Amino acid sequence: MKVLIPAAKIQERIAELGAEIDRDYPGGEPVYLIGVLKGACIFLADLARATNVPARIEFIGISSYGKGKSSSGEVKVTKDLDVSVEGHHVIIVEDILDTGLTLSYLVKLMAQRKPKTLRIATFLDKPDRRQSPVQVNYVGFKIPDEFVIGYGLDYAEDYRNLKDVCVLSQ
Ligand code: IMP
Repeated sequence: MKVLIPAAKIQERIAELGAEIDRDYPGGEPVYLIGVLKGACIFLADLARATNVPARIEFIGISSYGKGKSSSGEVKVTKDLDVSVEGHHVIIVEDILDTGLTLSYLVKLMAQRKPKTLRIATFLDKPDRRQSPVQVNYVGFKIPDEFVIGYGLDYAEDYRNLKDVCVLSQ
């Protein structure tokens, strides 16, 4: 296992993203941070504390990958939102943008819920793998096409609690 992004660098970048969010939502209205389970939960917890906007935290469950490292190509909702976000600011918070299939699907789904504004924050972005274009507003780090674990990201449900982002060797 090789460290790709150390914990301290992650925290520095998240502080910057929090400041960007503060600048983008000056109105004092609530902002729904919608975390995509399970990978985004750790990023969301840190991002929510890095911003001073009145954040509301919700989660949505999506499955697009099976137990391994490759996409099944299929996206389905496994846990829907518990609230209506109609008329509210929404930021979808995702762990990693890879092919883009998951986020493309989620953006369409969320747009149907008529939020006041809809933005996307992703902790990691692997631009080389994109199949479906997605407009992202907040990106933590762009990374090469390697399978990564830690800071919420798993391999077959393991390694989510690593503090650093690491590359998983074969
Ligand atoms: P996409 O639909 O291909 O963009 O995939 C997004 C989802 O795939 C993420 O939410 C992750 O759950 C998973 N994923 C993609 N790349 C990785 C990786 O390098 N490590 C762990 N999970 C990944």
